[in-house]
Amino acid sequence: MKVLVIGCTGQIGWELVRCLQPLGEVVAVNHRQMDLSRIDSIKATLKNFSPDVIINAAAYTAVDNAETNEVSANAINGYAPGILAAEAKQIGALLIHYSTDYVFDGKKMSPYMENDTFGPINVYGRSKLMGENAIQSVDMDYIILRISWIYSARRDNFLRTVLRLSQERDELRIVDDQVGAPTWARFVAESTVHVIKQSQAERFNDLFESNTYHLAAAGETSWYGFASALVEQARKMSSTSIKVKNITPITSDEYPMSAKRPKNSCLVTKKLENYFDLRMPPWDNILTLCVDEMFSDRKGL
Ligand SMILES: NC(=O)c1ccc[n+]([C@@H]2O[C@H](COP(=O)([O-])OP(=O)(O)OC[C@H]3O[C@@H](n4cnc5c(N)ncnc54)[C@H](OP(=O)(O)O)[C@@H]3O)[C@@H](O)[C@H]2O)c1
Repeated sequence: MKVLVIGCTGQIGWELVRCLQPLGEVVAVNHRQMDLSRIDSIKATLKNFSPDVIINAAAYTAVDNAETNEVSANAINGYAPGILAAEAKQIGALLIHYSTDYVFDGKKMSPYMENDTFGPINVYGRSKLMGENAIQSVDMDYIILRISWIYSARRDNFLRTVLRLSQERDELRIVDDQVGAPTWARFVAESTVHVIKQSQAERFNDLFESNTYHLAAAGETSWYGFASALVEQARKMSSTSIKVKNITPITSDEYPMSAKRPKNSCLVTKKLENYFDLRMPPWDNILTLCVDEMFSDRKGL
């Protein structure tokens, strides 16, 4: 099996390249090698590698910048997935694509099901919904995995920001009125490997059906809850480096950002768990694994 990973420098792309190795030949392309905002670049790369499976882990992910860069966000998140789908169809490849809970408005009082009503409240969410629709409009083999609240030991993300600030400041003020399930990029990558393995077997036996699934750790917390658990874990691993004494819960209104965020980012994952025989571990269990790894190799902070 030949697997192409697009966006190999991203949080999920980086982990994918490592987790996919047992499946076969893994070809990883970065932004420079394949630019999703250029149709010629997409076509040339797919023609060149002719993969069996294409994983699109690349996206315009700067949620706040997207508010003033709608054209770029739509090109990369909205149109490119449709081109990938059309090209994947031509070469008979399976397309794995990541989407987001931001396709929902976050007003539901319980976790979102795959077929709940969409209502993105920011440019990024609208562009990602466009991408889902663009893929679904092509009659080909795809899996869309909607994920949320991703963190990793690399790149800019909430986890790394909180760890850095907890070394520099006595107090942190963290939003407490948005809920979700923080999910380690490693776990998304490992689950994706299972999804690909089963999907390829089904395709081989003509049993495959394209579909959209939710993938997230179990349980829920707020950003404040996430930060508190993270700092507690980090303190256990390195009591001397963590300086912060108080973490104060605040509202979203007290921390204004360019893009609005959904209040509820929780996703029901039963469809994925049942179909692929997977188990979603509690978010705080996976967080412990990630923090242990970051501190045990002393590169984390
Ligand atoms: N992070 C989250 O909380 C979250 C939540 C829900 C869904 N998702 C989705 O999950 C997927 C992966 O997210 P992530 O957090 O791993 O993203 P990430 O760390 O921000 O990485 C994004 C990747 O996309 C690449 N990229 C950006 N513009 C590109 C372009 N025009 N052409 C080719 N590559 C481009 C980036 O390369 P450069 O850095 O070199 O530009 C980077 O490798 C995305 O589809 C995202 O929408 C993420």
